[in-house]
Formats: sequence, C-alpha cells, structure tokens
Amino acid sequence: MNLLEEAVNELLPESYHHLSAKEMSKRVQAIRQKFGEALFIPCHHYQKDEVVQFADSIGDSLQLAQAAAQNKKARYIVFCGVHFMAETADMLTDDTQKVILPDLRAGCSMADMADIYQLEQAWPRLLERFGDTIMPITYINSTAAIKAFVGSHGGTTVTSSNARQIVQHALTQKKRIFFLPDQHLGRNTAAELGIPLDEMAIWNPIRQELEDVQTSDDRLQVILWKGYCSVHQHFTLKNIAAIRKNHPAMQIIVHPECPYEVVQAADMAGSTKKIVDTIENAPAGSEWAIGTEANLVGRIIQAHPDKKIVSLNPFTCPCMTMNRIDLPHLLFALEKLNQGEVIHQIQVDKQTTTDALAALNRMLAQS
Ligand code: 13P
Ligand code: SF4
Repeated sequence: MNLLEEAVNELLPESYHHLSAKEMSKRVQAIRQKFGEALFIPCHHYQKDEVVQFADSIGDSLQLAQAAAQNKKARYIVFCGVHFMAETADMLTDDTQKVILPDLRAGCSMADMADIYQLEQAWPRLLERFGDTIMPITYINSTAAIKAFVGSHGGTTVTSSNARQIVQHALTQKKRIFFLPDQHLGRNTAAELGIPLDEMAIWNPIRQELEDVQTSDDRLQVILWKGYCSVHQHFTLKNIAAIRKNHPAMQIIVHPECPYEVVQAADMAGSTKKIVDTIENAPAGSEWAIGTEANLVGRIIQAHPDKKIVSLNPFTCPCMTMNRIDLPHLLFALEKLNQGEVIHQIQVDKQTTTDALAALNRMLAQS
C-alpha cells in the first residue's frame, strides 16, 4: 500500500455512520470478548457515554497514566482520550504493546499551544536572564517533545491531581519554576502554595518575551507559559454570580484549569478525580454547581439523582477534541484490529521516550 492508499484505508468508511448504536455496541462487545486481556480500553472521564460504557479503566490523566504503566498483559491499548494521553501511554508501556487512538484528530488545543521550537527558543533566553535557577515543569497535557525537553533539563511532569505537591517540591530544588503550557493550573497551584501573584509572570511564546512582570527579576518565582484550556477558560465570574443569586444553597466546585478569579470565587477547586470523589461523598440533598467538562458533568448528574447538580456554565460545550472519539471510530479501530491491521497507532521515537520518561517517572515516583 502506498501512503495515500494507507491514509484512505484508515479513514472511517461512510457505512459506519449508518449503523445503529445497538449494532455497534454488539460488535464492540464481541471483539472485546474475543481479545480478552490482550485488549485494554482506558477512557478519560471527559469521553462520551457511548464510549465510556466499554472502558476497562476510567479515570483522570494521572489515573490513566498509572493504569498504562501497570498494565503488562494488554497487547493493544485502544486509548479513548486525546493524543497526548495516547503518547504518554505509549511511552509508559513496553515496546511490544501497541497504543491506538481511534481518531487521530483527537488532539488537545492546550497541548498545541506549546510548541517544542518555541520552547527551544525560550529556554536559553530565560537562562540568560535568570541563570541556572529554573526548574521546567510541564502539565501532562503537552506533547511528548515538550515532556522530553523538560525531562532532559531536570524537570518533571504534573497532572492536576499532583501539581501542588510536585511544584512545592520543585521550589525546594530551584529558586523558580517555568510552568507549561497551562497558565491557569500553574497560577492556581502556585497561589495555593502561598506565592503572591506579583511574583509570577507570563511567558508569551509568540513574542518570545516575559509579560506582566510586576517585581524585580530576583523576586520572580513562577514563569507561566501563556496557554489555556479552551473548555475551562469559559467559566467566568458571571457564572459564579448567577449561581450565588439563583441557587444560594449551592456549593461551587471547579477544575484548576479555570481562571484564577473563578477558582478564588468558587467554594472548592480540584482535579477531575477530586470533583468526582467530592460529589460521590457528598450527602444526599446537597446542591452543587460544577465547573468542568460537559460530558463528565452530565454523567455525574445522572449518577446522583439524590443531589441537585448543575453545570456552572449552562452554555458550556463538551471538549470537542475528546468528543472525536465516538462509537463508530472505536468500532472501526477494533474491527481493523480484528482483521489483523493496526490503524492509528501512536508511537513515540526512542530518544524522545527516554527523555520524556525521565520527567514522567519523576512525577510517578512522587504521586
Ligand atoms: P485531569 O484529567 O488531570 O483532571 O485533566 C483534565 C483535562 O483537561 C484533561 O485533558
Ligand atoms: Fe485539552 Fe481542555 Fe480538552 Fe483537556 S478539556 S483535552 S485540556 S482542550
């Protein structure tokens, strides 16, 4: 097969759009049964219900990274999440285990905001200005190349579940951190650790310069890459004010990818896992407004009919790239596998893997 034929061969055939959900589910189930433990389907909490029903493991980014690292039995890992998660799974599994992303268009707009070439330009400039005083830290929502750069420069990855303890530890090792690519998680985490906002500045990767510098270079502790999550950025102070006015008994819990003012005005903030656990453990009759991805909020509402739960922003959308993994794409990838063909494999090269693993393993050792 030449490259063009290969690309066409991997495109979802039109016929899959005409199958009923029942038919697709039956066929997915049959393949899962046939493969048994040789097939592992991890799903992020933000995936659609039609996909989550087939999850062997459902979790947030940290839990899925840990599940991939621990699984030694599966020959095929069909990852229902986004591209950086599938890359991470590939790096954390053996060479014999193949990771498949059912739709290659399932990326992450935040991860795309940090380009390795921008980082390679930024780093020497920061070293020139601040000397060897900076620990690079990247949110796991970043490309393998960014993780590799961070790993080979003594840094670590974080997820929203462990950012606080890892940033705290990093600041005992170096005077300042350079946090990529989510400025909101970086700012919220540093603020939680008591670092004043004026000791943080923003690195603009397009202009290649520091913005919002409000202190002397000597006092600057946190440099935030100017990236954000297009889903969580949409929760606002107006949304909080509307809940306080219309549902005064409601508690508001938000993800730390939300802007600083929103996290400050909410009653609680925490990773996807913390949000799921908090609602799980809340008493019947309690009332909640949740500021995170819409598929997950919808599922939490369904799972807790004894509680009154709404989305903090009633007009919020699901993460569009997470949503690209749907039942037709999952079925197509599995049926190809069943025919002996691996499509949409995510494979990170050896050198990148070695360097990125340095960052990932530092994180996993502290989690
Ligand atoms: P967590 O899974 O760490 O909560 O991150 C949320 C997210 O946006 C994943 O893309
Ligand atoms: Fe990326 Fe935000 Fe979607 Fe997560 S929710 S995959 S951070 S765009």
